[in-house]
Amino acid sequence: MKFFIDTGNLAQIKEANELGILDGVTTNPSLMAKEGIKGEEAIAAHYKAICDLVDGDISAEVLSTEFSAMVEEGKKLAAIHPNIVVKVPMIKDGIKAIKWFTDNGIRTNCTLVFSAGQAILAAKAGATYVSPFIGRIDDSGWDGMELIGQMRHIYDIQGFKTEILAASIRNALHIIKAAEAGADVCTCPLDSILGLLKHPLTDIGLAKFLEDAKKM
Ligand code: E4P
Repeated sequence: MKFFIDTGNLAQIKEANELGILDGVTTNPSLMAKEGIKGEEAIAAHYKAICDLVDGDISAEVLSTEFSAMVEEGKKLAAIHPNIVVKVPMIKDGIKAIKWFTDNGIRTNCTLVFSAGQAILAAKAGATYVSPFIGRIDDSGWDGMELIGQMRHIYDIQGFKTEILAASIRNALHIIKAAEAGADVCTCPLDSILGLLKHPLTDIGLAKFLEDAKKM
Protein backbone atom coordinates (compact mmCIF):
# COMPACT_ATOMS: atom_id res chain seq x y z
CA MET A 1 0.00 0.00 0.00
CA LYS A 2 1.26 3.46 -0.91
CA PHE A 3 1.37 6.17 1.77
CA PHE A 4 0.32 9.71 0.92
CA ILE A 5 0.13 12.60 3.39
CA ASP A 6 -3.10 14.60 3.38
CA THR A 7 -2.07 18.19 4.03
CA GLY A 8 -0.91 21.43 2.45
CA ASN A 9 1.52 22.11 5.29
CA LEU A 10 5.10 22.07 4.00
CA ALA A 11 6.69 21.36 7.41
CA GLN A 12 4.46 18.31 7.91
CA ILE A 13 5.11 17.11 4.36
CA LYS A 14 8.86 17.45 4.99
CA GLU A 15 8.62 15.58 8.32
CA ALA A 16 6.67 12.69 6.75
CA ASN A 17 9.00 12.61 3.73
CA GLU A 18 12.03 12.34 6.00
CA LEU A 19 10.65 9.04 7.34
CA GLY A 20 11.43 7.70 3.87
CA ILE A 21 8.03 6.04 3.47
CA LEU A 22 6.10 8.77 1.67
CA ASP A 23 4.77 8.08 -1.84
CA GLY A 24 2.80 11.25 -2.46
CA VAL A 25 0.63 14.10 -1.18
CA THR A 26 -3.06 14.96 -1.40
CA THR A 27 -4.44 18.46 -0.86
CA ASN A 28 -7.89 19.96 -1.11
CA PRO A 29 -9.22 23.55 -1.09
CA SER A 30 -9.85 23.41 2.69
CA LEU A 31 -6.28 22.24 3.38
CA MET A 32 -4.81 24.90 1.05
CA ALA A 33 -6.93 27.66 2.64
CA LYS A 34 -5.72 26.50 6.09
CA GLU A 35 -2.17 27.33 4.95
CA GLY A 36 -3.27 30.82 3.86
CA ILE A 37 -2.64 30.13 0.15
CA LYS A 38 -4.66 32.62 -1.92
CA GLY A 39 -4.76 33.45 -5.64
CA GLU A 40 -3.82 31.50 -8.76
CA GLU A 41 -0.09 32.32 -8.64
CA ALA A 42 0.32 31.48 -4.96
CA ILE A 43 -1.61 28.23 -5.41
CA ALA A 44 0.59 27.17 -8.35
CA ALA A 45 3.75 28.14 -6.43
CA HIS A 46 2.62 26.09 -3.43
CA TYR A 47 1.97 23.00 -5.56
CA LYS A 48 5.41 23.46 -7.13
CA ALA A 49 6.98 23.68 -3.65
CA ILE A 50 5.26 20.41 -2.66
CA CYS A 51 6.47 18.75 -5.89
CA ASP A 52 10.01 19.91 -5.13
CA LEU A 53 9.81 18.33 -1.66
CA VAL A 54 8.28 14.94 -2.53
CA ASP A 55 9.10 12.67 -5.45
CA GLY A 56 5.63 11.17 -5.86
CA ASP A 57 2.09 11.87 -7.02
CA ILE A 58 0.72 15.23 -5.81
CA SER A 59 -3.03 15.78 -6.03
CA ALA A 60 -4.10 19.33 -6.92
CA GLU A 61 -7.84 19.99 -6.94
CA VAL A 62 -9.78 21.96 -9.57
CA LEU A 63 -12.03 24.67 -8.15
CA SER A 64 -14.44 24.79 -11.11
CA THR A 65 -17.57 22.65 -11.35
CA GLU A 66 -18.32 23.08 -15.08
CA PHE A 67 -16.72 20.79 -17.69
CA SER A 68 -14.85 23.30 -19.91
CA ALA A 69 -13.61 25.31 -16.92
CA MET A 70 -12.44 22.12 -15.19
CA VAL A 71 -10.52 21.08 -18.30
CA GLU A 72 -8.81 24.49 -18.61
CA GLU A 73 -7.96 24.53 -14.91
CA GLY A 74 -6.75 20.92 -14.94
CA LYS A 75 -4.49 21.56 -17.93
CA LYS A 76 -2.85 24.46 -16.04
CA LEU A 77 -2.43 22.37 -12.87
CA ALA A 78 -0.93 19.46 -14.82
CA ALA A 79 1.54 21.84 -16.47
CA ILE A 80 3.02 22.81 -13.06
CA HIS A 81 4.92 19.52 -12.71
CA PRO A 82 4.79 16.00 -14.24
CA ASN A 83 3.87 14.55 -10.81
CA ILE A 84 0.67 16.58 -10.51
CA VAL A 85 -2.53 14.50 -10.47
CA VAL A 86 -5.64 16.58 -11.17
CA LYS A 87 -8.23 16.11 -8.44
CA VAL A 88 -11.80 16.28 -9.74
CA PRO A 89 -15.05 16.12 -7.73
CA MET A 90 -17.52 13.28 -8.26
CA ILE A 91 -20.18 15.21 -10.16
CA LYS A 92 -21.59 14.80 -13.69
CA ASP A 93 -19.22 17.35 -15.25
CA GLY A 94 -16.41 15.88 -13.15
CA ILE A 95 -16.89 12.47 -14.77
CA LYS A 96 -16.86 14.10 -18.24
CA ALA A 97 -13.69 15.98 -17.29
CA ILE A 98 -12.00 12.82 -15.95
CA LYS A 99 -12.75 11.06 -19.25
CA TRP A 100 -11.31 14.06 -21.15
CA PHE A 101 -8.17 14.07 -18.98
CA THR A 102 -7.80 10.28 -19.40
CA ASP A 103 -8.05 10.58 -23.19
CA ASN A 104 -5.48 13.39 -23.14
CA GLY A 105 -2.87 11.72 -20.93
CA ILE A 106 -3.55 13.72 -17.74
CA ARG A 107 -3.81 11.67 -14.56
CA THR A 108 -6.74 12.22 -12.18
CA ASN A 109 -7.96 11.61 -8.65
CA CYS A 110 -11.75 11.47 -8.38
CA THR A 111 -12.60 12.96 -4.99
CA LEU A 112 -15.65 13.08 -2.68
CA VAL A 113 -16.61 9.47 -3.33
CA PHE A 114 -19.09 7.95 -0.89
CA SER A 115 -20.67 4.98 -2.73
CA ALA A 116 -19.79 1.96 -4.87
CA GLY A 117 -21.84 3.41 -7.75
CA GLN A 118 -19.73 6.55 -7.77
CA ALA A 119 -16.58 4.40 -7.63
CA ILE A 120 -17.73 2.43 -10.71
CA LEU A 121 -18.35 5.64 -12.69
CA ALA A 122 -14.92 7.05 -11.75
CA ALA A 123 -13.23 3.83 -12.86
CA LYS A 124 -15.22 3.72 -16.12
CA ALA A 125 -14.05 7.29 -16.87
CA GLY A 126 -10.47 6.10 -16.37
CA ALA A 127 -9.57 7.89 -13.12
CA THR A 128 -6.04 7.08 -11.96
CA TYR A 129 -7.17 7.23 -8.33
CA VAL A 130 -10.56 7.26 -6.65
CA SER A 131 -10.89 8.71 -3.15
CA PRO A 132 -13.55 7.22 -0.85
CA PHE A 133 -13.87 9.43 2.27
CA ILE A 134 -13.75 6.90 5.12
CA GLY A 135 -13.89 9.26 8.12
CA ARG A 136 -16.79 11.30 6.77
CA ILE A 137 -18.77 8.08 6.11
CA ASP A 138 -18.06 6.92 9.68
CA ASP A 139 -19.15 10.37 10.95
CA SER A 140 -22.55 9.88 9.31
CA GLY A 141 -23.14 6.53 11.03
CA TRP A 142 -22.11 4.20 8.19
CA ASP A 143 -18.99 2.03 7.98
CA GLY A 144 -16.46 3.64 5.64
CA MET A 145 -14.27 0.58 5.60
CA GLU A 146 -17.10 -1.55 4.17
CA LEU A 147 -17.03 0.70 1.10
CA ILE A 148 -13.29 0.05 0.62
CA GLY A 149 -13.95 -3.73 0.73
CA GLN A 150 -16.86 -3.42 -1.71
CA MET A 151 -14.81 -1.30 -4.13
CA ARG A 152 -11.86 -3.74 -3.94
CA HIS A 153 -14.20 -6.62 -4.82
CA ILE A 154 -15.84 -4.78 -7.72
CA TYR A 155 -12.56 -3.46 -9.17
CA ASP A 156 -10.96 -6.91 -8.95
CA ILE A 157 -13.77 -8.86 -10.60
CA GLN A 158 -14.26 -6.17 -13.26
CA GLY A 159 -10.56 -5.64 -13.91
CA PHE A 160 -10.66 -1.88 -13.27
CA LYS A 161 -7.16 -0.43 -13.03
CA THR A 162 -8.15 2.67 -10.99
CA GLU A 163 -6.31 2.74 -7.65
CA ILE A 164 -8.37 2.89 -4.46
CA LEU A 165 -7.08 5.81 -2.40
CA ALA A 166 -8.52 5.63 1.13
CA ALA A 167 -9.08 9.25 2.21
CA SER A 168 -10.53 11.16 5.16
CA ILE A 169 -8.39 9.03 7.46
CA ARG A 170 -8.74 9.98 11.11
CA ASN A 171 -6.46 7.59 13.02
CA ALA A 172 -3.92 4.78 12.84
CA LEU A 173 -6.63 2.09 13.01
CA HIS A 174 -8.18 3.49 9.82
CA ILE A 175 -4.81 2.97 8.07
CA ILE A 176 -4.55 -0.64 9.28
CA LYS A 177 -8.16 -1.41 8.31
CA ALA A 178 -7.70 0.21 4.88
CA ALA A 179 -4.62 -1.97 4.32
CA GLU A 180 -6.61 -5.07 5.34
CA ALA A 181 -9.48 -4.12 3.04
CA GLY A 182 -7.12 -3.88 0.07
CA ALA A 183 -6.74 -0.13 -0.47
CA ASP A 184 -3.95 0.65 -2.94
CA VAL A 185 -3.15 3.96 -1.24
CA CYS A 186 -3.93 5.58 2.08
CA THR A 187 -3.74 9.36 2.44
CA CYS A 188 -3.34 10.35 6.06
CA PRO A 189 -2.75 13.32 8.33
CA LEU A 190 0.77 13.26 9.87
CA ASP A 191 -0.62 12.35 13.34
CA SER A 192 -2.25 9.18 11.99
CA ILE A 193 0.98 8.11 10.27
CA LEU A 194 2.95 8.72 13.46
CA GLY A 195 0.22 6.90 15.41
CA LEU A 196 1.32 3.67 13.69
CA LEU A 197 4.62 3.92 15.59
CA LYS A 198 3.03 3.82 19.02
CA HIS A 199 2.96 0.81 21.34
CA PRO A 200 3.53 0.98 25.11
CA LEU A 201 5.39 -2.36 25.11
CA THR A 202 7.89 -0.89 22.62
CA ASP A 203 8.54 2.02 25.01
CA ILE A 204 8.82 -0.28 28.06
CA GLY A 205 11.02 -2.75 26.16
CA LEU A 206 13.35 -0.04 24.87
CA ALA A 207 13.69 1.54 28.34
CA LYS A 208 14.69 -1.88 29.73
CA PHE A 209 17.18 -2.54 26.91
CA LEU A 210 18.78 0.87 27.41
CA GLU A 211 18.98 0.27 31.17
CA ASP A 212 20.55 -3.18 30.66
CA ALA A 213 22.91 -1.77 28.02
CA LYS A 214 24.62 0.19 30.81
CA LYS A 215 25.66 -3.18 32.32
CA MET A 216 27.21 -4.40 29.07
C1 E4P B 1 -8.74 13.59 0.40
O1 E4P B 1 -7.98 13.69 -0.52
C2 E4P B 1 -9.19 14.70 1.25
O2 E4P B 1 -8.24 15.73 1.14
C3 E4P B 1 -9.26 14.38 2.71
O3 E4P B 1 -8.84 13.07 2.98
C4 E4P B 1 -10.52 14.80 3.38
O4 E4P B 1 -10.43 14.46 4.72
P1 E4P B 1 -11.34 15.09 5.86
O5 E4P B 1 -12.65 14.37 5.88
O6 E4P B 1 -10.57 14.84 7.12
O7 E4P B 1 -11.49 16.55 5.55
